[in-house]
Amino acid sequence: MAEANLQNEAAEAAAKGDAPLLQMVDVCKRFGGVQVLDNVSLEIGSNEIVGLVGDNGAGKSTLIKTITGVHLPTSGDIYYKGEKISIHSVKKSRKLGIETVYQERALADLQTIWQNMFLGREITNKLGFMNIKEEKRQSELMMREHMGFTSKAITVDTEVEFLSGGEKQGIAISRALYFKADLIILDEPTVALSLSETQRVQEFILDIKRRGHSAIYISHSIYLLYPVCDRFIVLDRGRVAGVLDKKDVTQDELQEKMVNLVKTGVLA
Ligand SMILES: Nc1ncnc2c1ncn2[C@@H]1O[C@H](COP(=O)(O)OP(=O)(O)OP(=O)(O)O)[C@@H](O)[C@H]1O
Ligand SMILES: [Mg+2]
Repeated sequence: MAEANLQNEAAEAAAKGDAPLLQMVDVCKRFGGVQVLDNVSLEIGSNEIVGLVGDNGAGKSTLIKTITGVHLPTSGDIYYKGEKISIHSVKKSRKLGIETVYQERALADLQTIWQNMFLGREITNKLGFMNIKEEKRQSELMMREHMGFTSKAITVDTEVEFLSGGEKQGIAISRALYFKADLIILDEPTVALSLSETQRVQEFILDIKRRGHSAIYISHSIYLLYPVCDRFIVLDRGRVAGVLDKKDVTQDELQEKMVNLVKTGVLA
């Protein structure tokens, strides 16, 4: 579809109040002479989990970095809740309600759980001082009720370095939910996790949906993506090769399509 049409559509949808949560229109990103994103157009709706799949170097991480304010697109437009926006910093994307959970660097290891929960978004009292008591109380509630931490050995004062990888990701996702992120982006959140920890992260992702939020989930494992995603966007060498609805494709078919794409360069 021509860019002008897509832009008109986005403006009309916004006026009617039924705009997608996020829309990218003809987004390109070049690093020097290399075109890493090539006219990417896609939509993420409200309350859906979208799997972003593609081979190594397809541009998945670069794509999400243009949404999270790490990279500005070289050209193209991004609409958020129907409004054209420029996401020029990570701070700006967070303010809009977009949070990212990475494989690593999700948390500050040497700080406690409660400090990590409120890092950069401290609760302050009327005089502007940090309200540590309230931050700890809120963290405690989240840990027991939402994250399902039952072990007495872990308290809000536990330093994050003592937690398992799955627990760390749980905190990162819960933090995003606590701050009411509309869109949570998960870039290979289960790499280096054990099977049981991975299952726990899968539960957290389902929780994102149950609570009415949306997510973009990046993983090389169709086996992990398929059960929790509603749709799949296939990226190939910087282009959107196809968008598949879960009802139109089985897990095995999706797996086969991805293998074929690597072999033949065609999504069939
Ligand atoms: N800052 C950068 N400068 C130059 N090239 C970059 C930069 N970031 C990414 N690239 C290149 O862009 C391409 C896409 O990288 P990207 O990290 O987005 O891929 P990916 O789909 O996330 O891959 P993977 O599945 O391996 O994580 C790669 O060829 C990479 O080398
Ligand atoms: Mg990547």
